Amino acid sequence: MWCLDDEDIMRLKTILDRFHSSLDDDYGKDEVNSFFDLLLEHYLSIKRIQLVLNPEYVITKEQELLFLGALEVLKSNTPIQYVIGETEFYGLPFKVNEHTLIPRPETEELVSLIIEGVTSSTVEKSLNLLDIGTGSGCISISLAKNLPAAKVHALDISEAALTIAKQNAELNGVEVVFIHDDILNPDMSTSTGYDIIVSNPPYVRNLEKAEIKPNVLDNEPHLALFVDDENPLQFYKAICEFAKAKLKVGGVLYFEINEYLGQDMIQLLEDFGFKSIVLKQDLFGKDRMIKCTK
Ligand SMILES: C[S@@+](CC[C@H](N)C(=O)[O-])C[C@H]1O[C@@H](n2cnc3c(N)ncnc32)[C@H](O)[C@@H]1O
Repeated sequence: MWCLDDEDIMRLKTILDRFHSSLDDDYGKDEVNSFFDLLLEHYLSIKRIQLVLNPEYVITKEQELLFLGALEVLKSNTPIQYVIGETEFYGLPFKVNEHTLIPRPETEELVSLIIEGVTSSTVEKSLNLLDIGTGSGCISISLAKNLPAAKVHALDISEAALTIAKQNAELNGVEVVFIHDDILNPDMSTSTGYDIIVSNPPYVRNLEKAEIKPNVLDNEPHLALFVDDENPLQFYKAICEFAKAKLKVGGVLYFEINEYLGQDMIQLLEDFGFKSIVLKQDLFGKDRMIKCTK
């Protein structure tokens, strides 16, 4: 029987102990356990219970190096999603990297709102949808998956993000038409009229940087996050302008928004002449989503 030399093996439990001694002060024990669970699944395709049932579980030198490499990266504040290169959104797997924002739970609420809006409506379901600032593709791909009759388009200025979004569409077995464009200076020549336009654009003001955790600030793309303090609704204004031309009459515009700018958003949408404006709170009670009709 083939067996490993002692120096080639390492007890998984020893690695877990090393994770706790290196990371608990920064992240807390529970979060470190959840990092380790994700790494167990990612590198070994096993669940924590297998380690609990077999505390002597051993791994090879190569596997040990994977875990210790991940530990080094986590020590430098890199989010676990970038360490393993994937995350889950709306129950679906998504690849992520330093060019894509890590999808947030609040954005899942926005996707739910749209799906509820479409499925509760009695009108024709083969809708034309556009997601502006798609990043990893989390919004557009979840919509395509859950609204199979819809024709989904997704736009971003970042080619690197679009590369990942395309991989995610393939990973999830959906068709999305990806568009490389700058929404602040968009190509208006296409003739498409949309039934729904959705966007989670950059909306964090520089003055809010103090509220942002260092692991976000140091690792997630600033192109996806920040706007000038003097013009925090810049993207929303540009998208309203775009929607005036490209959203069908009766079509619906959905936004994720900065929790501090709900009233400014209502004013903006009224100024653009949109109707049936509804401001919605997220699970934490913060103004986070807004919808309106053209
Ligand atoms: C807040 S992230 C949202 C990403 C993804 N939709 C999500 O919800 O996780 C904003 C996205 O807008 C994109 N973006 C930034 N400036 C843009 C521009 N001028 N035109 C189009 N997209 C832009 C960024 O590349 C980023 O992917």
